[in-house]
Amino acid sequence: MAKSLAVITGASSGIGSAFARKLAPHYDLLLIARREGLLAALAAELAAKYGSAVEVIAADLTDGTKLSLVSDRIAAEPGLALLVNNAGFGMRGAFWEADLGILEKMQRLHVMATVRLSHAALRAMVARDRGAIINVASVSAFVRSAGSVSYGATKSWLAAFTEGLYLDLKRANSAVKVQALCPGYTYSGFHDIMSVDRHALAPSSFWMTADEVVDNSLKALSRGKLVVIPGWRYKVIVSVLTKLPTSMRLLLESGRTSRKR
Ligand SMILES: NC(=O)c1ccc[n+]([C@@H]2O[C@H](COP(=O)([O-])OP(=O)(O)OC[C@H]3O[C@@H](n4cnc5c(N)ncnc54)[C@H](OP(=O)(O)O)[C@@H]3O)[C@@H](O)[C@H]2O)c1
Repeated sequence: MAKSLAVITGASSGIGSAFARKLAPHYDLLLIARREGLLAALAAELAAKYGSAVEVIAADLTDGTKLSLVSDRIAAEPGLALLVNNAGFGMRGAFWEADLGILEKMQRLHVMATVRLSHAALRAMVARDRGAIINVASVSAFVRSAGSVSYGATKSWLAAFTEGLYLDLKRANSAVKVQALCPGYTYSGFHDIMSVDRHALAPSSFWMTADEVVDNSLKALSRGKLVVIPGWRYKVIVSVLTKLPTSMRLLLESGRTSRKR
């Protein structure tokens, strides 16, 4: 018998592939990213291990045509139970020095792809009164950093968007769940792509594995938790920083940024 379906964007690496591995015993999977070879290898491994149906779509979600194809597919999927909006990337450097094309791609991936895919999924989920969406934001949703302006702003949008969805769903008395997953530093391809030295960013005690992040997320999803910050260190940082007046928070954050230079 066909299992319910989980759709994961950015499943070719890191947190997305950890979601695929953890969900494969329980769900059929639709895995999306650009690197088709990595997706195909993961799909073959998981299908063989768990007997789940695992399909891949190679798509650049910043491309409007590809994004429409994926959102149409999600809208037409009768067994859709879970959507994980996880695809994302980082960049470093002063906002005005960054390549405008890459800045626009980040907005399209973190914001527009999330809007389109969540809209397609929620229409069906709300009608059936079941299902869940996990939006992968970041601790950066709550912490400002010089050199990472657009990344932090799009992740703040993802957290705010998810909280807004929660209120819409609550008002509609819907059983559909949403979660903003807000990881801190996580071992994945993310920092390799930016050619950033992990040790220069934070001591090893601040680094988590993608498996730990995904375990936190899925455990919290079963409890219906809305904002999930894996790791006690990050919970403390976010809870302190978000209680400070803006001027004091920015003073601390500018000190942190200059020390890192
Ligand atoms: N690692 C961290 O420290 C950290 C911390 C907080 C939040 N996050 C968030 O976690 C999410 C996953 O990142 P990760 O850490 O697992 O990094 P990763 O290993 O680099 O994975 C990123 C995934 O996104 C996909 N992706 C990137 N651009 C895409 C595009 N245009 N279209 C479709 N897919 C695209 C990549 O696949 P392809 O290259 O094959 O397309 C890859 O599967 C991101 O949203 C990131 O912002 C990461």
